[in-house]
Amino acid sequence: MSPRREILANSDSPVAEEAAEPRLDPGSFEDDRAFEVGIRPKRLADFVGQHSLREKLEIILEAARRRDQPVDHVLFAGPPGLGKTTLAGIMACEMGAGLRITSGPALVRSGDVAAILTDLQLGDVLFIDEIHRMGRAVEELLYPAMEDFQLDIVLGRGPTARSIRLDLPKFTLVGATTRTGLITGPLRDRFGIVARLELYSEAELEQIVRRTGVLFGVELTPGGASEIARRSRGTPRLAIRLLRRVRDFVEVRGEGVITEDAAREGLTVFGVDELGLDGLDLRILNILCDLAGRPVGLSTLAVSVGEEPETVEDVYEPFLLQAGLIMRTPRGRVAAPRAYEHLGLEIPAQSLSFVSAGDPDHLAAMSSRGRPRSGAVQDVLFAAASDEDGFPEEPGSGD
Ligand SMILES: Nc1ncnc2c1ncn2[C@@H]1O[C@H](COP(=O)(O)OP(=O)(O)O)[C@@H](O)[C@H]1O
Ligand SMILES: [Mg+2]
Repeated sequence: MSPRREILANSDSPVAEEAAEPRLDPGSFEDDRAFEVGIRPKRLADFVGQHSLREKLEIILEAARRRDQPVDHVLFAGPPGLGKTTLAGIMACEMGAGLRITSGPALVRSGDVAAILTDLQLGDVLFIDEIHRMGRAVEELLYPAMEDFQLDIVLGRGPTARSIRLDLPKFTLVGATTRTGLITGPLRDRFGIVARLELYSEAELEQIVRRTGVLFGVELTPGGASEIARRSRGTPRLAIRLLRRVRDFVEVRGEGVITEDAAREGLTVFGVDELGLDGLDLRILNILCDLAGRPVGLSTLAVSVGEEPETVEDVYEPFLLQAGLIMRTPRGRVAAPRAYEHLGLEIPAQSLSFVSAGDPDHLAAMSSRGRPRSGAVQDVLFAAASDEDGFPEEPGSGD
């Protein structure tokens, strides 16, 4: 009956918007959560990649253990499926502490978080997923809780209201968000470490695929592992999901061993293309290519593909940018030459001209060949593509 139990019950399942069409959305779905239980690494040593972040965590965990104190609060930012929840679990495990999981959308009123905070034990790790989505009142209650381990509770209303202050056990708050920009300054300042998780390299994903293959008890050849890694969009959750699909495929149609060919065939059956792009990625690319180099704002793009702008920006764009398929310019998003190539389209001259005003004849000649291989222009284009924060956030460019 206690509200706390209710909150925790809800919040155990970080919200996942079920997509209408089968997607490679790296957000966590019901079936992933069931499968992730046994395969999440529990120790930092088993966590692949993110080297600089891991080093920082090693240091603060070791220091906290030596002082016999809880670790400082940590905020993890990054696209879904990169290991934020896993790291929260690892921090609790490495400290031998309890882990309490909740999420921003479950924390609406101050009472929601007060119930959780007053129930914490000394040293517990409190993980708040999607921390940018919690209510304003909750956030304000968290400030003194994080800073001084104190909770201010207001009892009653109006003129008879009075405030009492409770001492909380020292705990560690671990927050996760898709983008640090969504967190208010005062909240961000209260974290000892604000870390950004980066997309994983193919080699790292391969390692994760091999490790998970062992846990699944499925045989993988090196070629099979790398084929899955190559199409996982830099995202461990996707790598694991693709591995599960390919495992199904080889068990039913193949010899039970995931070879390179089997992986390729299996992934084709499930509609995962060469770069690991799914339906929505391809629709984004098609729209941008149709516009032939005319920039389009985030909100217009999102409406055209029928998605929330945040989803397009946080879930889809990071990989498309990293893969050099799209570019962000001051006036909006445009397709990069590689997108035209990938879709088998001709590269229009305009798509290159905004990058370099010089020598339009040369650019036109290159684009008419379809595959601009000349170093200079490519370099400029890819420099732009990889420089995610190099441009202002195009205020109002949505329309
Ligand atoms: N660095 C990593 N090494 C091994 N497995 C990982 C790593 N990062 C993520 N995973 C796996 O990927 C899945 C998604 O990770 P998760 O922590 O839920 O991501 P997020 O919370 O950022 O959405 C989990 O099953 C986890 O085991
Ligand atoms: Mg998560």
